[in-house]
Amino acid sequence: MTEHHNTTYGNGKGEGQPVGIALLGLGTVGAEVFRLLNEYNADFTQRVGGPVEVRGVAVSDASKAREGIAPELLTEDAHALIQREDVDVVVEVIGGIDYPRELVLAALRAGKSVVTANKALVAAHADELAKAADEAGVDLYFEAAVAAAIPVVGMLRRSLAGDKIQRISGIVNGTTNFILDAMETTGASYEDALAEATRLGYAEADPTADVEGHDAASKAAILASLGFHTRVTFDDVHCEGISAITAEDIQAANQAGYSIKLLAICERLTGEDGKESVNARVHPTLVPKEHPLASVSKSFNAIFVEAEAAGSLMFYGNGAGGNPTASAVLGDVVGASRNKVHGGRAPEENTYANLPVADFGQTQTRYHIDMQVKDRTGVLAVISSVFAEQGVSLRTVRQEEGKDGARLIVVTHAATESVLDGIVRALEGLDDVHAVNSVIRLS
Ligand code: HSE
Repeated sequence: MTEHHNTTYGNGKGEGQPVGIALLGLGTVGAEVFRLLNEYNADFTQRVGGPVEVRGVAVSDASKAREGIAPELLTEDAHALIQREDVDVVVEVIGGIDYPRELVLAALRAGKSVVTANKALVAAHADELAKAADEAGVDLYFEAAVAAAIPVVGMLRRSLAGDKIQRISGIVNGTTNFILDAMETTGASYEDALAEATRLGYAEADPTADVEGHDAASKAAILASLGFHTRVTFDDVHCEGISAITAEDIQAANQAGYSIKLLAICERLTGEDGKESVNARVHPTLVPKEHPLASVSKSFNAIFVEAEAAGSLMFYGNGAGGNPTASAVLGDVVGASRNKVHGGRAPEENTYANLPVADFGQTQTRYHIDMQVKDRTGVLAVISSVFAEQGVSLRTVRQEEGKDGARLIVVTHAATESVLDGIVRALEGLDDVHAVNSVIRLS
C-alpha cells in the first residue's frame, strides 16, 4: 500500500519532488550506503514522498573504477558537489575531523541537510555544527556516530525526550569488546587477542583509537550531551583504554564473579547542595556476571539506559561494520529527505540544561585493587589501615599465595577518584607492598 504524505510545511519542496544526495566518501560504509540507496530506491521514494537520487560521490581518486558506480558520478571536488543546486542532503562518511568539518559546515551553510557517521567530528564540534544547522534551518543527523545500527541517538533525541535520564552505560566499541571477550573465553593475553582481532579485520592496522578508548570517548560525549541536554565534548570525557589489562586481571575478575568490559559511563550527579552535574568516562570496568552488559560477547555493542520514568532499558546489536553503519546512515537519509520534501526539521539536540561537567576526581565508584604484598603477619592490618585512614571501607579481601610473597585482592566500597589516588600512592609507598598490579573500577 502506498504511504500518503500530504502535509507540506512552508519550506518543503513538495510531494513527488526529487531529493538530491551528495555522498562524501566511498569506503566500507559509503559503498554500502550507495549500494542500498539503489537497492531500496523504490521503497525510499514511498517513504520519503519523492525519489531519492544520488547526484555525485566525492572520492579521493576519481580515476579509480568502482564496481556498480557510473564513473560520471565520481568527483574529487567535494566542495563543488555540495554546492550544486540539485543537492539537498549531504552524507558525510569520510572520517577524520578537520576536512569533514570543513565540508559539513559548508554544506549546512549552503542550506543542505547533513547526515554524518562521524563520531569524532560530532564529539569535538557539535556546538558549531548545531549552530550552523539552526541558522540555515536544516537537519543535522548522526545516528551512525554511536553504535552504528543500534538506534540509540534517535532513542535519546525522540523516544526518551519526555523522561529524565540518570545514567547511560554502554559497550560502544566492538573491537575492544571482542578483545576482552576473547581474553575471558580463551585465557589469551591482550597481545594475542589484539592480533586475532586484527587478523579478523575488527581492529585497524593502528588500533590506538579503539584500544585506548578514544572511539568510545567520542561516543560517550555524544550520549551524555543527548541524555543530559548538556554539551559534553570529547575533551570532557575521562578516558582509559584496555591495553594494560592482563590475563591475570581477567582471571581475578572471573573468580570474583565479574567480567571486564570497556564501558562508556555517563552519569547525572547530585551534590550535597542538591545541585546537579554530569560526568562521562570510559574505562575498563568490572561488571557483575548477572548484569545484562556482562553477557555482551564478541564485537557486539549494548547500551544500558536508566531513566526515571522508563526504568532500565537495554539496546543491543551490531555497533560497527559497513552494513550496520549504512543502515543507520540510511535511516537518517530517509528522515532528512522526508523533511526536504514535506518541510519541517528533525528534533534538534537541545542543551538547555547546561549542567556543569563534574571534575573526574569527584567521581565515586568502587574499586578492585590487585597487589603483590609481603607474606608476613600483620600485612593485612597495615594495608587495611591505609584504607581506613582515608575513610574507605573494604567490601572483600582475598589472598592468594604468589611466587614472590602474596597476592592480595581488595574490593572497596564507594570512594572518590581523588581519595583512591591517595590510597594507591600510599600503598605504593609501603615496604610491605611490592606492587599495585592493577586498579579496576566496578560498575
Ligand atoms: N572501531 C569501532 C568499533 C567502530 O570497533 O566499534 C567505529 O566506531
